[in-house]
Amino acid sequence: MSLNPSPLERVREYERERASKLPADERPLFHLTPLVGWMNDPNGFCYYKGQYHLFYQYHPFSRQWGPMHWGHAVSDDLLHWTYMPCALAPDTEADAGGCFSGSAVPLKDGRLMLCYTGVQPAGTFRRETQAQCVAFGDGTDFEKSLLNPVIRHAHLPVGYSAFDFRDPKAWMAEDGTFRMVVGNRHEERQGTILYLSSKDGLDWNFVGEIDASCSEYGRMWECPDFFAIDGKQVLIVSPQEMHAREEFHAGYGTVAILGQFDEKECVFTRESIQPVDHGLTFYAPQTTLAPDGRRIMIGWMDNWETCKEAPRRHPWYAQMSMPREVFIRNGRLMLVPVREIQGLWKDTVNHEKVTVKEETSLEGVHGRMLDMTVTLYPSQSGCRRFTLHVAKDREHYIQILCNLARGELVFDRSHGGSHREIAHTRHVRAEVQDGKLTLRILMDRESVELFINNGERVVTSLIPTPIESDGVTFAADAPIEMSVEAHHLG
Ligand code: FRU
Repeated sequence: MSLNPSPLERVREYERERASKLPADERPLFHLTPLVGWMNDPNGFCYYKGQYHLFYQYHPFSRQWGPMHWGHAVSDDLLHWTYMPCALAPDTEADAGGCFSGSAVPLKDGRLMLCYTGVQPAGTFRRETQAQCVAFGDGTDFEKSLLNPVIRHAHLPVGYSAFDFRDPKAWMAEDGTFRMVVGNRHEERQGTILYLSSKDGLDWNFVGEIDASCSEYGRMWECPDFFAIDGKQVLIVSPQEMHAREEFHAGYGTVAILGQFDEKECVFTRESIQPVDHGLTFYAPQTTLAPDGRRIMIGWMDNWETCKEAPRRHPWYAQMSMPREVFIRNGRLMLVPVREIQGLWKDTVNHEKVTVKEETSLEGVHGRMLDMTVTLYPSQSGCRRFTLHVAKDREHYIQILCNLARGELVFDRSHGGSHREIAHTRHVRAEVQDGKLTLRILMDRESVELFINNGERVVTSLIPTPIESDGVTFAADAPIEMSVEAHHLG
């Protein structure tokens, strides 16, 4: 290291020294965790120079949120990640208060452009302000533009906030110029998503506002994403302070707004709105395009309420969700685990059309690293309630209760080992379709991700359950036929 190391060099040195001492076997098998310290939102998710790159909000020096850096990892298959050195540290005037969330755009000249929020510390009598910055690099080292912040509050019409102005998601349009959506809090309309354009990534023009919360769907809208897929335009936002309504739970939510976009007029017309994920721990998702055209989403497998009370068992804290393929079916945004997961399947067990009533376990169906699909055929049975327990021992279990009569499912981790009085349950619609209900359950040591009816609804949750608790049982109030296909993962 040089005699007078920069803040980034110091972080990289700290990473090298700490990483060599960390036990690898405590990490999840296929969910990304921070190299050391703390992680929140996924940032700069992209495919660049033949690999997926995923950056993340990162505080290397503790397992709590702190001055934000960008951590970095790369992967060939979205499941096995290799750590790269820390990409950004808060070390310039434009971002001395933190390098907040943002995105990455591969450029035609071979460089990668990072767009992120620079937080400027509060001066006397002022709050810290937020503005958008860029950095250019080769996929490992990035140089921040001397023009930062390239998008300032002064670029915006009156009424927009200088304090809540963050999370730029930029992309390259077909003609090689750039577009961006970014969150802001308007003094009347609360969470708003602004649309900007630029020829070179440095000089940006405000084009318009594409949508606003108007306090209907939370207040500040964080981490927007905006893309066209299957004939729809989709706006993704992560609202703070939502109240429970329709299918949305209270607190930190993830919202997908489906509609049409007239780019010339900068008018986005809403057609439908739905939660992205109904779980206890999922926030700030971001998408990218895979080289084969699939749109892939990844989220922070946590949120700002749950992370406060979660145990700190490892030298790192927090993880990303399973990457999911996104598509539209019957006017709904659907999410399924990326098909690359099949590369981890081993010891597959099939139980076809077995009848259950009393609590039962099935040969070969257990574990904490599983990809299991349970298909229920309730049609001719009088069964109204079906109960599935995973991560089970004598004391603990995670319960998935299907109320078949009501078309509702309750995900419940109350008996999962938590000592904290926080939300542990979620109610979500789960209807029998064409005579069956399918539940795909992905487990990776400390998490459960449940995909209902082939991705129609998703429930994501960290579980605090001791790792040895690995039982799986099935029970029903009247005999019901079901099939179970379970793949162990390794
Ligand atoms: C979302 C968020 C972003 C912000 C970042 C800070 O989880 O609050 O709006 O950029 O986290 O770490």
